[in-house]
Amino acid sequence: MSNEFRLIDTHAHVAVAQFDTDRADVLARAAAAGVARIVEIGYDLKSSRAAVALAESHPQIYAVVGVQPNHAHEVSEGWFDELRALAARPKVVGIGEIGMDYHWKVAPPDLQERLFRDQLALARELGLPVVIHSREAQDDTLRILDDAAHGQPGIMHSFSGGWAFAQACLAVGFMLSFSGPLTFPKATELHEAARLAPLEMLLTETDSPYLSPHPQRGTRNEPARVRLVAERLAALRGLPLEVLADQIWRNAERIFHFDKVSGVRCQRDSS
Ligand code: NI
Repeated sequence: MSNEFRLIDTHAHVAVAQFDTDRADVLARAAAAGVARIVEIGYDLKSSRAAVALAESHPQIYAVVGVQPNHAHEVSEGWFDELRALAARPKVVGIGEIGMDYHWKVAPPDLQERLFRDQLALARELGLPVVIHSREAQDDTLRILDDAAHGQPGIMHSFSGGWAFAQACLAVGFMLSFSGPLTFPKATELHEAARLAPLEMLLTETDSPYLSPHPQRGTRNEPARVRLVAERLAALRGLPLEVLADQIWRNAERIFHFDKVSGVRCQRDSS
């Protein structure tokens, strides 16, 4: 490979139907762009199962499992036990995406909060980091995290907001993961947060197939485009891309512990 560095997409949904016709090509393009690792994120039980299956069949992919707030009303009895079983599978590195969403409000806020708290507790019990979805619900997300997850390792996925919200998330101990909107020329609040946050608390992601970066905004996103996010972040921090990429890689290692997971997997494979 021609790249001198490794990029990571810490949040993608490659298992969704939008990639059914060309998933292998999408993964090949990611590898060619230097994206050496992808974290596939579940948003309900079905997609969590699919994330685990995708991770188990691709060495460069890891899985995060959970029920996202817009699917909170869909769970049936026994969901928690199934999630717990999924979380124990090799290559599962976190619980998510979980959180609060007042944009769509397809599930009532109290139900969202109950599932959010249940899954924060599960992550704590299993020693896994959490991947947080928060949309138009900054205050309640922070209230719950501060109350139930303070000091627990976690990531604000597709961070959106300004420096004030970033500081509040950092105060709870959470990392900030930047996605396509960071590349939008007018996203000045986001740029400021990305410039001021400690380097060791930053991550990069695509949220594929959503949130495609500039100049491909509005089209189907894919993990290869995390490079555009990383390039923007490097420019904002005044760092060469390879230095930024190396920092992000180590940040992701620190929170997801891929090394431990691979170790378990290798032992199992060789037995
Ligand atoms: Ni997502």
